[in-house]
Amino acid sequence: MEDYIEIKDLKISFKSYDGQKRVVDIDELKIAKGEAYGLVGESGSGKSVLALSLLKLLTEPPAVIESGSIRIGNLNILPKSEREMENIRGKKIAMIFQDPMSTLNPVFTVGQQIIKVIAKNQNLKGKQARQKALEMIELVKLPDAEQIMEKYPHELSGGQRQRVIIAIALACGAEFLIADEPTRNLDVTIQAGILKLLAELQKTLKVTVLFIANNLSLVSLTCRRIGLLYHGQIVEQGEVREILDHPVHPYTKTLLQPLPQTEEEKEAVRRSLSVQENADQGCPYQFRCPRAEEICKKEMPPVHQIGENHEVHCHFLEEGESAR
Ligand SMILES: Nc1ncnc2c1ncn2[C@@H]1O[C@H](COP(=O)(O)OP(=O)(O)OP(=O)(O)O)[C@@H](O)[C@H]1O
Ligand SMILES: [Mg+2]
Repeated sequence: MEDYIEIKDLKISFKSYDGQKRVVDIDELKIAKGEAYGLVGESGSGKSVLALSLLKLLTEPPAVIESGSIRIGNLNILPKSEREMENIRGKKIAMIFQDPMSTLNPVFTVGQQIIKVIAKNQNLKGKQARQKALEMIELVKLPDAEQIMEKYPHELSGGQRQRVIIAIALACGAEFLIADEPTRNLDVTIQAGILKLLAELQKTLKVTVLFIANNLSLVSLTCRRIGLLYHGQIVEQGEVREILDHPVHPYTKTLLQPLPQTEEEKEAVRRSLSVQENADQGCPYQFRCPRAEEICKKEMPPVHQIGENHEVHCHFLEEGESAR
């Protein structure tokens, strides 16, 4: 399949009073057209910074794009001007944020907001724009579309608001959707509904989706391929089933562990999270890794190809892992 997105050698840092800290360091990330790719990582691993960089929404400074290239379709994003990006955002690429209220305007009804987007991007007016807005609300499976159109955002539940955001994103005719933890603040049952909807829309409308989560089980509902992000680097990547069944990187295994229950388990997690973490050289995971040895402090781990569609960046592989 043709690659729709190609990120190469992307290094992003933030400047602060005590120097510059790198938060994204991606060698290569490719997403095929129409694919749903999941990016998973713990809090602070660089997921949102990476997502914002795809839309050129990072404020520079304090953000510094040190190097790299981002190609989306036939667009070379990084050299684009703000004016050019304004045309691309929403129209070609849409983003769903974790807090729907940051996207919705509290003083306009849902209908007014969807119609405005349709009028701007699809050149429809009056009855036609309204009809299209109703169709979009039905598409995201909100019952009684006429009634929803008249509501203000605060009159909707969190799950309903997130569906409206998805409707707005798709009303622009976006061919690439970035969903940055769209269900983070929702109940588990509502989460599952939104994820199911995203998966369905991705298949029927053939949009390419970058789905961001801090939880591996969430991405497994929507994505075929995933990448595990640690300190801005992809440490393991491959088909979601393969990774869930055979996680190789110690970080992936940690993310797959159930939440700590006993005080002892919680203390072990606190200890592992409190270690100093800025690796100047070697493996980014060296301070947290239970298997770390001298070589991990000195050398960047090589990429091991495990099977056809699974790769891991680690100096050590368990016996048999490379043979699969
Ligand atoms: N505006 C900023 N100025 C300075 N540092 C920033 C800024 N935005 C993000 N960072 C830093 O970049 C790193 C990555 O942040 P990012 O928001 O991408 O994390 P995340 O993986 O999205 O986490 P979460 O799951 O909590 O949303 C963090 O160390 C954060 O402190
Ligand atoms: Mg984030």
